[in-house]
Amino acid sequence: MKALFVTFEGGDGSGKTTLIAALERRFKQRMSILSVREPGGTKLGETVRSVLLDQDLTLSNKAELALFLAARIQHIEEVIRPSLSKYDLILCDRFHDSSIAYQGAARGLGESFVEKTCLLLTENFQPDLTIYLDISPQDAEMRLEQTKDRIEKEPRAFHEAIRKSYRRLASCFPKRIHTIDASLPKEVVENTAYLLLLQFIKERVDV
Ligand code: TYD
Repeated sequence: MKALFVTFEGGDGSGKTTLIAALERRFKQRMSILSVREPGGTKLGETVRSVLLDQDLTLSNKAELALFLAARIQHIEEVIRPSLSKYDLILCDRFHDSSIAYQGAARGLGESFVEKTCLLLTENFQPDLTIYLDISPQDAEMRLEQTKDRIEKEPRAFHEAIRKSYRRLASCFPKRIHTIDASLPKEVVENTAYLLLLQFIKERVDV
């Protein structure tokens, strides 16, 4: 059976990474899990990641999108696609929705333009399920470290635009994207995500 491909989305400081680690711990007793992140997961992805987060770099908005996409395409071809037949569950920290919210909305390239470009270049490769951690940039900022990367350093309005875009995406794709209030205590967020995933897995087995 094909692995369930689940992506995690949210603004900077929303707690995705902690949540993914917790879910991995809880599910690994009962199924095989691969946990990956974007940009990253391949040699190209990790190289692109350090370029993209470099504080001293000036990048045009389209160049930024192209780099994120290059990393994603390589990641899909080299890691995700071949893993679909090897694992039960693939957990991926960020995917197309990040590009739509960050480059499409916040950088102003246009959400529809970015969505179409992502789908075109990845031959419509889409997650089965997306968990979106919703939190205000103000609350999220308190969780971020003092040393911010190139994207985290952007002003509050930039991060507000990202949240607005994610919320719009969640309302456009209610079957795929499930929103969790990330301002709730960590254990509540973890349990909600765990039950959601469990339910999704059960439904899939029952079909
Ligand atoms: P990272 O340190 O992994 O942040 P986080 O832990 O919040 O995911 O850095 C990834 C940064 O890249 C983050 O600020 C979001 C941004 N990003 C985009 O702008 N577009 C994209 O397509 C992706 C995948 C990430």
